Amino acid sequence: MSLTLDAAAFTVEPLSPVLGAAVSGLDLNQPLNDRTKRAIYDSFVRYHVLCFRDQHLDPEQQIAFTAQFGTLERHMARNRGPVNPLVNIVSNLGPHGKPSGKVGSTGWHSDKSFRPEPSLATILHAQIMPPEGGETCFANMIAAYDALPEAERAALYGVRIVHSWELSRARLGLQATPEEIADAPPLTHPLARTIPETGRKALFMGEHASHVEGRPMAEGRALLDRLTAHAVEERFVYRHKWRAGDMLMWDNRCLLHRANPNFDAARFPRVLHRTCLRGSTPA
Ligand code: OGA
Ligand code: MN
Repeated sequence: MSLTLDAAAFTVEPLSPVLGAAVSGLDLNQPLNDRTKRAIYDSFVRYHVLCFRDQHLDPEQQIAFTAQFGTLERHMARNRGPVNPLVNIVSNLGPHGKPSGKVGSTGWHSDKSFRPEPSLATILHAQIMPPEGGETCFANMIAAYDALPEAERAALYGVRIVHSWELSRARLGLQATPEEIADAPPLTHPLARTIPETGRKALFMGEHASHVEGRPMAEGRALLDRLTAHAVEERFVYRHKWRAGDMLMWDNRCLLHRANPNFDAARFPRVLHRTCLRGSTPA
């Protein structure tokens, strides 16, 4: 099915039954008029992931596109791109520009959930992709919430989760630097948050979610592990197979996402440019 939003403008076609839509026919190097911008935002809220086809934005142009929807979020110091501190280079390249074998962001997470105002949206633009694999995977946290038995949903009411950059690094066997710890001290967010535009509830957790505020660590971890296993079941997941020119924009309020390291990362480069839009306090 193809929905034409504006006769001369663009089409929005679902990418899967669970989430995601492809947007074709737009040149995002041009400023958006108000009507198009609203149509894009409405589709973003509805489909959670938009894939703009056939885009070629340089970092400055990606910043300009992103800024039309709000305030850009800076990146952790170690992640800042050489081009612009607001553009983060997502890549598997080592210091000499050769594929390092390492792929980042392979655990399910929601971007910057350790911030007081976690990212509303992430915009990720493919630059160089491996011939096969290296998908970005998304899980729909509204659908996962809705699928819980009513008693379990009720039990989540008022539960707050501690999100911590330091603890999420530690669980990966990595040590956050003192600067990073000072920059991102632990804080709490509701486990079930409400998406303001629709009133729908979404599970809000992922890699930076550490434990439950006010409960023993092990009990909170067990709850998060169990909920995460449920929430990333196949029925809630869409895997995006990147095409040249794709630029994704996704809603971190109601998705978990991860990179799929299912390609030879010591042989093939995988490079993307990333901008993030600051969100609001989850409620
Ligand atoms: C990110 C991220 C996943 C990927 O940029 O925030 O998680 O597929 N990327 O590279
Ligand atoms: Mn991410």
